[in-house]
Amino acid sequence: MYPDVLREHVRKFKAASDKPYAVNVPMLYPDVEQHMNTIIEEKVPIVITSAGNPATWTRRLKDAGHTVVHVVSSVKFALRAQDAGVDAVVAEGFEAGGHNGREETTTFVLLPLVAQALAIPVIAAGGIATGRAMLAAQCLGADGVQVGSRFACASESSAHEAFKQRVVEAREGDTTLTLKELAPVRLLHNPFYQQVREAYGKGASVDDLRSLLGRGRAKRGMFEGDLVEGELEIGQVSAAIDRIEPAAQILEDIMREYRDGLQAVVGAAKTSVGC
Ligand SMILES: Cc1cc2nc3c(=O)[nH]c(=O)nc-3n(C[C@H](O)[C@H](O)[C@H](O)COP(=O)(O)O)c2cc1C
Repeated sequence: MYPDVLREHVRKFKAASDKPYAVNVPMLYPDVEQHMNTIIEEKVPIVITSAGNPATWTRRLKDAGHTVVHVVSSVKFALRAQDAGVDAVVAEGFEAGGHNGREETTTFVLLPLVAQALAIPVIAAGGIATGRAMLAAQCLGADGVQVGSRFACASESSAHEAFKQRVVEAREGDTTLTLKELAPVRLLHNPFYQQVREAYGKGASVDDLRSLLGRGRAKRGMFEGDLVEGELEIGQVSAAIDRIEPAAQILEDIMREYRDGLQAVVGAAKTSVGC
């Protein structure tokens, strides 16, 4: 998002709702300084930082009164975020869409490790698209969940319709975490991903990969709907997403599945312990 677009969206949100909200800032993107200034000026209540060092911005944001959450993919980075003074972490597993850690630790393994190691709240992410998955995350120590891929396919999502439709068609094995030498990212297989694979096959250097990736590929793929040359970021859970629907419907389904799942688990537990 360009800096002026961020301000416009924040103002639209403030006009539409008095609920708490967050802005996510991947620190690997350009314009971070400008985005942070906008966030501070507009008094955005929660800032989620990702893909960078939490020590860089946390103190300044905390001093300005913001709640700060940092995205981590390992216990090591979770502890570093806690030491930097963040209020909570998002523990994001290997199966998640978008940029990710190099460790390849899945949500089921990462979450209990991080929850045990930290004294601050932990928000689980990666592979959570249903109420039952939310319940499982809670069992593993999560205080909250972050759902990415399923909302990328919501009717209201600003992603291009062609991208959303491609996600709906995605099946198991259709995504891979790649470009680890640059910034690891999970991509849906398409001709651009095939080019990346071929480059690896030919022993591409980091510079070769960087020039193949170029600039603006994610925007081209996800916002402009170029399914051939664009970068298509989505999680493994795309295999389970089978329709484009309004965000409110997604939330209602998640809450219903959560309640049904909880009842089923409580029922099964009562039976197994005989009470
Ligand atoms: C299209 C797409 C773009 C994303 N962009 C960002 C981002 O800019 N910053 C970030 O911290 N996470 C980003 N993520 C990750 C999500 O915030 C979330 O942690 C992740 O999608 C959770 O896993 P899931 O895809 O299995 O639901 C993105 C995910 C997707 C699918």
